[in-house]
Amino acid sequence: MTALRREDFGEDFTWGVAHAAYQVEGAWDADGKGPSIWDTFTHGGGRVSDRTTGDVACEFYDRYQDDLSLVRDLGFGAQRFSISWPRVLPTGTGRVNRAGLDFYSRLVDACLERGVEPWVTLYHWDLPEALHQRGGWASRDVVDWFGEYTGVVADALGDRVTRWMVFNEPSSFLLAGYLTGVHAPGVRSLNKFMAATHHVNLAQARGAQVLRDRVPGAEVGTTHIFTPPDVAGDSPRHRRAARAFEALVNRVHLEPSLGLGYPTDDAPLLKRIDRYRRDGDDQAVLVDWDFLGVQYYQRLAVHALPVPGLGFLPWPRRDHKRYDITAMGWEVNPRGLHEVLHQFHAYGKVPKLYVTENGAAYPDEVVDGRVHDPRRIAYYEAHLAQVLKAKQEGVPVHGYFCWSYCDNFEWAAGLRPRFGLVHVDYATQARLVKDSGHWFSALLGGELAPPG
Ligand code: GCO
Repeated sequence: MTALRREDFGEDFTWGVAHAAYQVEGAWDADGKGPSIWDTFTHGGGRVSDRTTGDVACEFYDRYQDDLSLVRDLGFGAQRFSISWPRVLPTGTGRVNRAGLDFYSRLVDACLERGVEPWVTLYHWDLPEALHQRGGWASRDVVDWFGEYTGVVADALGDRVTRWMVFNEPSSFLLAGYLTGVHAPGVRSLNKFMAATHHVNLAQARGAQVLRDRVPGAEVGTTHIFTPPDVAGDSPRHRRAARAFEALVNRVHLEPSLGLGYPTDDAPLLKRIDRYRRDGDDQAVLVDWDFLGVQYYQRLAVHALPVPGLGFLPWPRRDHKRYDITAMGWEVNPRGLHEVLHQFHAYGKVPKLYVTENGAAYPDEVVDGRVHDPRRIAYYEAHLAQVLKAKQEGVPVHGYFCWSYCDNFEWAAGLRPRFGLVHVDYATQARLVKDSGHWFSALLGGELAPPG
């Protein structure tokens, strides 16, 4: 049994699970949904390592009632999910697909009926393909498109949803989608990446403003992944490399929104954004956040190398001797979570923090009707201990969301990595609570404490 106790985190601490529309819903073309860039990307072939797609995924679109009952029975009080933009607006703007919007309305009701609070993310990476054809995030028009979409969702759900997140990890979808091209839409262009970075920052503020205007009492936030760099030395060259990495990967979307501008001193490459900036933009990107979502998975080794414009290259840290390594090849280093919580808090500009994602993939197997996943239990136990430590040191961390409730489609890695507390048999869609799910249930006082 664990030494952690729910009460140590306080009565008001939010315990939740998180997922994204494309990763779980399936029903990729059901009921009038338009294609997203992820549909195009996965149907294009060869770009997902196990050649799977999100066409069916966990069939959450049809199974959400049962899944939410299980979320409740595990003892969680919050479900973070994203809205699929092309399910609501098949071509991104203009005609609303009532059936798509109704799905999310039913989903919100199903959460509330179970005493599970819905936490809505507006954008978790599935841009309508039609908007990509019109330039996507690299076109400045996307700011208006995103504002329109946000208004449609806010008007439909704002009477029942209080917690909103504008984006999920903007630096991830831009670095992977527009620079390295390993995620949808598979673009590799420094100029488009720079343009998209600025437009996302404008859209971030526009989305937040639309929520404030349309949803009285909304708590408006967004999520960022922070990946601490681990440099091999302490010379000025190494310190510069670490700062450049942090500026480009961790800070580039958060700091402009807080009024700190782009971190160009540390990452001169970001000066290229100037080409896409117009008068008034410094004001237009500001956001008065109610909360920030902190997402943490790993540290990265950052090497000071003469790479033009960058001065560094990152790669995974894998110290097999000292640390567990997950099925994603990520080193398990819980102290990094403590560090990033302090980093967010040090800005001194946002009243509340929530860990909106944290979790691990392991090669789980069903043996005699059980999934024994002690490494995942150890992972959660160690990371939660760091959250508690930060909280006790005065960091205003108000909640924790596991990634994820169930196994799901892990982007370019496909269905192979299993991140869930609940196992999904993709052939039958059967759900099976893993030992880690039972462990959580015991911690939270849910109904699914470990059998026997
Ligand atoms: C991300 C996303 C999630 C992932 C999760 C595990 O960080 O990539 O927010 O969609 O599935 O983080 O990689």
